[in-house]
Amino acid sequence: MKFELAVLPGDGIGPEVVAEAVKVLQAVGKKFGHNFSLHYGLVGGVAIDETGLALTAETLKMCKKTQAVLLGAVGGPKWDDPAAKVRPEDGLLALRKGLGLFANLRPVKVLPFLVDSTSIKPEVLKGVDLVVVRELTGGLYFGRPKRRWQTTKGWRAVDTMSYSEEEIRRILRVGFELARTRRRKLASVDKANVLETSRLWRQIAMEMASEYPDVELWHVLVDNCAMQLVRGPAEFDVIVTENTFGDILTDEASMLSGSMGMLASASLAGLPKAGVSTFGLYEPIHGSAPRHAGKNEANPIATVLSSAMMLRYSLGLVREADAVEKAVDAALADGCRTYDIMQEGCKKLGTREMGDAIADRIPHAGWH
Ligand code: IPM
Ligand code: MG
Repeated sequence: MKFELAVLPGDGIGPEVVAEAVKVLQAVGKKFGHNFSLHYGLVGGVAIDETGLALTAETLKMCKKTQAVLLGAVGGPKWDDPAAKVRPEDGLLALRKGLGLFANLRPVKVLPFLVDSTSIKPEVLKGVDLVVVRELTGGLYFGRPKRRWQTTKGWRAVDTMSYSEEEIRRILRVGFELARTRRRKLASVDKANVLETSRLWRQIAMEMASEYPDVELWHVLVDNCAMQLVRGPAEFDVIVTENTFGDILTDEASMLSGSMGMLASASLAGLPKAGVSTFGLYEPIHGSAPRHAGKNEANPIATVLSSAMMLRYSLGLVREADAVEKAVDAALADGCRTYDIMQEGCKKLGTREMGDAIADRIPHAGWH
């Protein structure tokens, strides 16, 4: 079958990790007889350099015509001036908002062969298998007013945390529905002891719980959640939370799997029903890691695993998604490592070599 995909490599290590995900997709195409037609576009700093904008109308339009978007990362020191009028991150936010992708799924698993490469005790990591459902198009990231101004006593700045009932309801629904397909435990994370948006969030969560009597709903304050994630992460099944909290908690949670370089994500406009494909944006949760850019050392696994989520959710290619995940497991089981997950007795590979190691294992990656 033929599939139309948008590919936005972005900045820093973005192009390098995306190239490896594309390499793996091509191996999948070869094995399963698919043709992935790739439409490359600019987003982030490279788009600013080329057009003055972090996301052009043309790129957004192109993405809308495809079945899914694969993105690397945006940002870097070159565009980091706090006084700059436009930032690379604006492009990513405009893309998420412009495509209506309010639900960001970030799965966290601990792979047995990586247990020793994390900074957390192996016994704490046993049985960790959770998904963070992060609200992606509301809260502090988008609330208005958002500005900085001069007062008689110096500068002042404001960001606005704002959520409507509808925005809260639709993301909680994704959380409840996803929990139903898993271990039926939903942790709704808020700061209801302080924030009004969180009190509305909690009230709606409590209301919705009656529609999901089979799901065990549990309210956790965000500061406590940050602590529980390192104290007893195996307790969590699905975590649903607002934008900023989800951003922070997923960087923390990524360390459970050994490295930021391991965590994939899917941004969707709701949870797809089984067997129904839906448009989505797929990106690693890590950033553009400018320090590692251009050195062929970044870990491409998060992006490769994001492309597996793309195969599963947006293209309906479940066997193919499984094959990619199995190929990653096989490469790791064979001792292939990038610097960030390096362990004694393993082979240290560069970005391209890790991509090759995964792609080479696709033909043999069984799916049962
Ligand atoms: C992420 C990133 C982005 C975010 C940045 C690059 C804007 O940190 O996807 O987690 O904050 O959403
Ligand atoms: Mg982040």
